[in-house]
Amino acid sequence: MHDAPSAPSSVLVGTTGVDRLRLGERTLAIDSDGVTRTFHYVWLRDNCWCGDCRIRQTAERRLYTADIGADIAPAQAWIDARDTLNVTWNDGHRSVFSASWLAQHDYSDQARAARRHQPALWAAGFVPPSFAHDDVVAGGAGQLAYLDAMRDHGVAIVRDVPAVSGQVARFAETLGHVREVAFERIHNVRHDPTGYNVAHTANELKPHTDMPSYTWPPSVQLIHFLVNEADGGESVVVDGWRVLADLRRADPGAFDTLASVPVPFQLFSADEDTYAVAPMIQLDPDGRVRTFRFSNQLALPLDVAADVVEPFYAAYRQLGAMVDSDRYRVMFRAADGDLLTLHGHRVLHGRLPFDPASGARHLQDVYMEWDDLMARRRVLRGEHLPLPAAVVDAS
Ligand code: OGA
Ligand code: ZN
Ligand code: ZN
Repeated sequence: MHDAPSAPSSVLVGTTGVDRLRLGERTLAIDSDGVTRTFHYVWLRDNCWCGDCRIRQTAERRLYTADIGADIAPAQAWIDARDTLNVTWNDGHRSVFSASWLAQHDYSDQARAARRHQPALWAAGFVPPSFAHDDVVAGGAGQLAYLDAMRDHGVAIVRDVPAVSGQVARFAETLGHVREVAFERIHNVRHDPTGYNVAHTANELKPHTDMPSYTWPPSVQLIHFLVNEADGGESVVVDGWRVLADLRRADPGAFDTLASVPVPFQLFSADEDTYAVAPMIQLDPDGRVRTFRFSNQLALPLDVAADVVEPFYAAYRQLGAMVDSDRYRVMFRAADGDLLTLHGHRVLHGRLPFDPASGARHLQDVYMEWDDLMARRRVLRGEHLPLPAAVVDAS
């Protein structure tokens, strides 16, 4: 099906840019603005933007990637006067790639590192950024500022949210979608001697992440304070990713233990259940922390090989001390109408004990997904529409 490459591949002579383009065995290199960018032939062919290779009305791929032969290579390639890379492939197909598209998709280590978002881990004295409810729900720049803060810091407080039941879900829907979970769509947190969860007691809640008992825990949590008049109950938040970065530096072995030992978690009520087994730390393909689950109250008995038990507890002891230390705790007293919003896989939250006899305290929680928040941010920034690799024709 695939012809042998017409050897050797050539750079078309007599065009501009000939000195800036070099063809190798399986890659080509282009010099542009003092930067050399290298692209694999198979990758370029796969990303052809022509009307045969893309579905025009959706910009989705039409070309079936697996059909690209292993021997794909240019028969000829050149850079034209508009700085566009033109390739005639050895299968007879023709592709064009604009300089700006190639720059945007450069996959060198340097370019990928520059594109990677670096969260702003909290430093001493960090104060959660706060935003006015009306600005956030209005969309536009006010909402974008809120989403930028969430992306960088993993926490933001929205002020003056109408203190009425259900408002937290309406707020969520101005940003994205509520993540439905077991128990209740809107979780009521108030003193309830019959409640199924430690949050329903008046006890201290050590910093934790909610619902580690899902294989994919909710990745955003919204906590709306309807009334917060009881003595005590101050809120605590901790940048879990900061804690883990410090632990990793101080004791990489402990970090690795927590990133590899599976821990079972469960949250249940009389008629519902959630249960999942996962390491407390999960990494992304670059080795960076993606998901942190920490819930002292919901961890079940460890079920691992005997030689893992003590190393796990040694690592957990260090981590638990850090999570609960003044060094990392950020404490504040939420006012009625405050809405605390958290990256659920990064920021831990808790509260001090309160006295239910001293006054009312009632919160409502809903969950969302981080992907939806970040999607909203990209849409507001107009970043979600792909840059065409090339305008092939005007139709
Ligand atoms: C929660 C929780 C904290 C509080 O609702 O998940 O941890 O302040 N509540 O009661
Ligand atoms: Zn094509
Ligand atoms: Zn909680």
